[in-house]
Amino acid sequence: MEFLRTQQEVRECVGAWKISGRRLALVPTMGALHEGHLALVRRAKQEADAVIVSIFVNPLQFAPNEDFERYPRSLAADGALLRTEEVGALFCPSAHEMYPENFQTQVTLDKLSDVLCGHSRPGHFRGVATVVLKLFHIVQPDVALFGWKDAQQFILLRRMVEDLNLPIKMIGVETVREEDGLAMSSRNANLSGDERREAPAIYAALQGARERIESGELTAETLRRAIAEKIQSDTHARLDYVEIVSLDKLQPLEEIVPGNTLIAVAVQFPRARLIDNIRL
Ligand code: PAJ
Repeated sequence: MEFLRTQQEVRECVGAWKISGRRLALVPTMGALHEGHLALVRRAKQEADAVIVSIFVNPLQFAPNEDFERYPRSLAADGALLRTEEVGALFCPSAHEMYPENFQTQVTLDKLSDVLCGHSRPGHFRGVATVVLKLFHIVQPDVALFGWKDAQQFILLRRMVEDLNLPIKMIGVETVREEDGLAMSSRNANLSGDERREAPAIYAALQGARERIESGELTAETLRRAIAEKIQSDTHARLDYVEIVSLDKLQPLEEIVPGNTLIAVAVQFPRARLIDNIRL
């Protein structure tokens, strides 16, 4: 596995792959890798001949009051994991490499950035879109893989790729969960023991809603309330939001629309903000 630090090194490595006609997949991450990330890597290997993973804890997508400093970092372990997955290259740029002095261009999506997580984290998706577009330009992948765990992020980046005419196939990979249902997340490492025991209630609440929908309850407000009540009664977390929106535009729905519904939840534990969702 090549270990790349600069965009120049990436261009040289990727250039050689492209000359030999290899199809290239990019998996962007912030590291502290877990089975969720590895599911993306494994899918990438099916979709392409060479896989490059990036690890960059992107300061631009964290607000000053957020967890940039305590975001888990484990580069040595991450490198070892990726080596066993037989990844072709790992790109770990410095903050200065990505954002040199006087950097000032950012990517904003007009509508998709402001709802759900964008409402509670203003500027977050501008930071995400900006770093991912930069990674796309540096790596020039044929395919890029993202997790449905961060559904809004995937939907928004897919929009960006279409809007800006990038020749990149965007693939969404299903959420990988712990045995008790909790969606895997690097931030789970920042939960206390008690919080970790409470956290599966988030997915249990979503599954409860799925069951009610299957038995005929389609009213969004009723379902939203039931999810909120379950999370509030089973955890000490502060509920940030429960939203039932369309999958394409992320606009609130009054009724479940089969095939075009996202139910998304965000909760804030003292040291970790967790998100999860289901699609219907
Ligand atoms: P990060 O949280 O490290 O996630 C990297 C990728 O892994 C994202 O596409 C995310 O959706 C996916 N992922 C995380 N947990 C997952 C799970 N349990 N199952 C399936 N996929 C999962 O998302 C980011 O980093 C950043 O915002 C990034 C896109 C790298 C831009 O900085």
